[in-house]
Amino acid sequence: MTTRSVILGAGHYLPERVVPNAEFEKSLDTDDAWIRARTGIERRHFAAEGETTSDMGTAAARDALADAGLAPDDIDAIVVATSTPDLTFPSVATMIQNKLGMTRGFAYDVQAVCAGFVFALTNANGLILSGQARRVLVIGAETFSRIMDWEDRTTCVLFGDGAGALVLEAQELTGTNADRGILASDLNSDGRQKDILYVDGGVSSSQTTGFLRMQGKEVFRHAVEKLAQTAHNALAKIGMTGDDVDWIVPHQANLRIIKGTASRMGVPMSRVIVTVQDHGNTSAASIPLALSVAWKCGHIVKNDVIVTEAIGGGLAWGSVVLRW
Ligand code: UT7
Repeated sequence: MTTRSVILGAGHYLPERVVPNAEFEKSLDTDDAWIRARTGIERRHFAAEGETTSDMGTAAARDALADAGLAPDDIDAIVVATSTPDLTFPSVATMIQNKLGMTRGFAYDVQAVCAGFVFALTNANGLILSGQARRVLVIGAETFSRIMDWEDRTTCVLFGDGAGALVLEAQELTGTNADRGILASDLNSDGRQKDILYVDGGVSSSQTTGFLRMQGKEVFRHAVEKLAQTAHNALAKIGMTGDDVDWIVPHQANLRIIKGTASRMGVPMSRVIVTVQDHGNTSAASIPLALSVAWKCGHIVKNDVIVTEAIGGGLAWGSVVLRW
């Protein structure tokens, strides 16, 4: 028998305001056709004034708890992946704990930018396998609209806001690939690549929040090369290949990166969950959002083998293989 972190439920939240590409044409030298052709993005959601990352994370968590048929006090731990916290501290996770009315357990944030959910999921799996927690809420929540330079057309058209959440539970299973739950993961980072994707402000440097800066072409090059590799590494740990995968659920940054990665993995686009057209790049929220949307519309069904992969600032990148 082996302990597995099994997914009991998924949920998501998207802010009400939908911003189509055309809206950027009013203030920037850009157009809907360029954004669609280069990124696949058609629209994104932006948080309302005063609506924070913890508000959205709480809504996604409630949705996931309802899907799992659990109450907040059934949860032992909350791990939140975010780079856009409400405040420098306390963590978004403790704010969500409070908003859920959860009176027990522990909560903390993980920061690996767009790869954050893959890191948080792996971290939550570690909590479960080491016996620290039996049920964990893993949340990705972001308000990237708050760190956009609205005069920089090379970045501000790419990102959106939202949140997604999964509920994991420890279950004693067979220890084979037939088990439901997290089967393998692969994490990587390379701090030498800091300057190609970063925010130009922070507590101990400028005491400002800063704006996102990206050398898009460079990040693109790393993404295409590293995402298929990390997915391959995680699958190889358990003797699987792209042929064994029912769904790739990739980080949703750019449709061209998503297609390039699937092609390198030998997986047709009919087995790839794509939400980038509706959400834009929601950083750490993109994978749990895509998982929840695909689960709720019936694309993902119980027992499907899923590989997620993501890359972002750091650079940090990784993947998780799981059976839903
Ligand atoms: O989630 C974290 C990971 N992030 C990513 O994965 C993002 C990776 N990078 C990308 O997705 C792409 O590199 C971008 C979508 C950011 C850019 O696409 P690209 O095909 O690499 O375009 P480019 O940067 O080479 O720019 C091509 C042209 C440039 O004009 P010139 O120099 O050729 O005259 C840009 O100035 O497109 C121009 N351009 C735009 N034109 C209209 C850049 N942004 C825009 C825009 N509207 N919004």
